[in-house]
Amino acid sequence: MLKGKKILLGVCGSIAAYKSALLIRLLVKAGCEVRVVMTSSAKTFITPLTLSTLSKNPAVSSFEKDEQGQWENHVELGLWADLFLIAPASANTLAKMANGLCDNLLLATYLSAKCPVMLAPAMDLDMYKHPATLQNLKTLQSFGHQVLDANHGELASGLVGEGRMAEPEELLDKVESHFAKKKRFEGKQVLITAGPTFEKIDPVRFIGNHSSGKMGLAIAHVLAREGAHVQLIAGPGKYPVDSDSITLVHVSSADEMYEAVGERYPKSDITIFAAAVADYRPVSPAEEKIKKAGESMTIELIKNKDIAAEMGQRKSQTQINVGFALETENEEQHAREKLVKKNFDLIVLNSLNDNGAGFSVDTNKITIFSVDQKPKHFELKSKQKVAEDIVDCIHEKIQS
Ligand code: CTP
Repeated sequence: MLKGKKILLGVCGSIAAYKSALLIRLLVKAGCEVRVVMTSSAKTFITPLTLSTLSKNPAVSSFEKDEQGQWENHVELGLWADLFLIAPASANTLAKMANGLCDNLLLATYLSAKCPVMLAPAMDLDMYKHPATLQNLKTLQSFGHQVLDANHGELASGLVGEGRMAEPEELLDKVESHFAKKKRFEGKQVLITAGPTFEKIDPVRFIGNHSSGKMGLAIAHVLAREGAHVQLIAGPGKYPVDSDSITLVHVSSADEMYEAVGERYPKSDITIFAAAVADYRPVSPAEEKIKKAGESMTIELIKNKDIAAEMGQRKSQTQINVGFALETENEEQHAREKLVKKNFDLIVLNSLNDNGAGFSVDTNKITIFSVDQKPKHFELKSKQKVAEDIVDCIHEKIQS
């Protein structure tokens, strides 16, 4: 299963670095090509000679390859790998990764890598439990990286607790299951709306809302990782797309979003309406900036098209539509009404009454309703994890 897989192993300064030697042997035996990048403190725990002999490739640690000052190409290393496994990952390196620091070859390679990243932390128990480390691990998970929890046991300090790096056999297991994971949305075409819409009042003003588009973007990444081709129809905002399987289509107004979705909808297998679309727009936006005049002013508004409802009417037997409802009162009732009215297969409810849910924050607390199943309630989680739960429910729906 691992034959020909390109594994880039990052080794940090930790007593657990001795386990890297065994890990490389196991990976090579399983048919992987292994290259090693180490921090300079890792070299005080295990020699590059040992790791390069076992991996049959140079174990690199500096930006310069040789005495002639030839450059070590971290970009090439990062792009080469199918998987970047950092084992052991020290508290120091985890903190630098979480904050985008780049003062050694391992970190430069990490920032250039496009492949999935797995981390096997190793440190003393108090360091492992420190809120700063926990926060860093959470941040790294929110980037989509897989953290392979440290084990409980005797530590180099003589203390007993959590912090021992997972054993090489366990790490090999994780690598195997990473590659074995069947891509559940292979070949599926997905359309996602995200972010706010801006409705023009005049050349400098608009009606908008606080939606950040983070939820739609997180769902796009989970589905792309699972093999789908995603078109993200995004209202104004920042969308750091990190996958070749996501096509970003920028729109501004509800009308533009409607056009962009309508055009692509017939070919979409799954459509997710995560955008906070303005319900109304100014009837006649001014050509020139509106000047201040009387004590009050009125802007006449006209209803926008309901994109989700319209696509719900066009939906075929094989298409799946997923909606969102952000409510402040009678949450369940409103969500259920929208589920039926807009012909959704699933609706994701988040209530502004829940702390940590809603616009602009990195967390969300959701309940998912469908016409024929009991509602599923979820805890407050990062938007990344929430996206995974939503995708699991969509998969269940397709299977049912
Ligand atoms: N939606 C849409 N087009 C619109 C309005 C909403 O596609 N013009 C979608 C949203 O993306 C979301 C769902 O419909 O998936 C519900 O949005 P919401 O704003 O809660 O619904 P409304 O019908 O506008 O109801 P409300 O009166 O609560 O605003």
